Amino acid sequence: MNRAVAQVLDGRALSASMRDDIKLAIDRHLQGADQASALPERLPRRSAPGLAVILVGDDPASAVYVRNKRLACEQTGIRSKSLHFPTSVTTAELVQAVHQLNHDDSIDGILVQLPLPSQVCEQAVLECIDVGKDVDGFNAMNIGRLVLRDRGIRPCTPRGVMALLHHHGISTRGMHAVVVGASNIVGRPMALELLLDGATITVCHRFTRDLEHHVRQAEILVTAVGKTGIVDANWLRAGAVVVDIAMNRDADGQLCGDLDAEIVRRKASWYTPVPGGVGPMTVTMLLLNTIQAAGIAMPAT
Ligand code: GUN
Repeated sequence: MNRAVAQVLDGRALSASMRDDIKLAIDRHLQGADQASALPERLPRRSAPGLAVILVGDDPASAVYVRNKRLACEQTGIRSKSLHFPTSVTTAELVQAVHQLNHDDSIDGILVQLPLPSQVCEQAVLECIDVGKDVDGFNAMNIGRLVLRDRGIRPCTPRGVMALLHHHGISTRGMHAVVVGASNIVGRPMALELLLDGATITVCHRFTRDLEHHVRQAEILVTAVGKTGIVDANWLRAGAVVVDIAMNRDADGQLCGDLDAEIVRRKASWYTPVPGGVGPMTVTMLLLNTIQAAGIAMPAT
């Protein structure tokens, strides 16, 4: 008997509808019709929310990501400000730029595009972002809040994955989730989000001894390796939910994920396409984090 092919976790479609809601929330805020700005502790500032993006060097992939973020801001009514530094920039120069943005009342969110050149101390730069403007959710306070199940700004990619799963009626409560990749910006916060959702977590990384053994156990598999071929889609358990976070290029220069998409479609129950799965959700969560940082409430859905 032929199994049905897996259903798509369509990040492009969900992003489009969430961006409409974000635009609506901003419009209502500008008209004074939202409730968030009526809170007594927050003076209403009837101007569009502002996002500052710091880009260093001329890495083409980072330039594309930053451009996509800027376009998404324009689409939804968020003002975006870009600061571009040469590859030779120092930690002190970036820290100074962040401090200025921390004190700029027209800026609600600050994002430093990663990776930074090796001479820059990444953590020192991320740590000096005002905790309420840290729309990437990467500084220690926001990650700590996620660890403690407290309210804070949550990293965009894992938040986007959870939104995509929940939108499609997938709760991971009680499921065995395997996350492959343990980076500070994706794998670790992804594992914390899944834990928060009630999943039992295994995190695999470069020292994991028998990756195949772990992947075979996964009811939900999340890959964030950044290299095709490390995780073999033939290892998938039939009916697994598969979230491929990677954005790799194949031999023909086409975008692809960590996993062989053909095999995934045959074995999984649900999967994220690459492109069109997690990528758009990451940008949409950045917009959401920015309006939250500005104190703008989303309309009830
Ligand atoms: N580089 C790759 N992904 C990201 C991200 O989500 N945020 C930032 N700031 N840099 C990145």
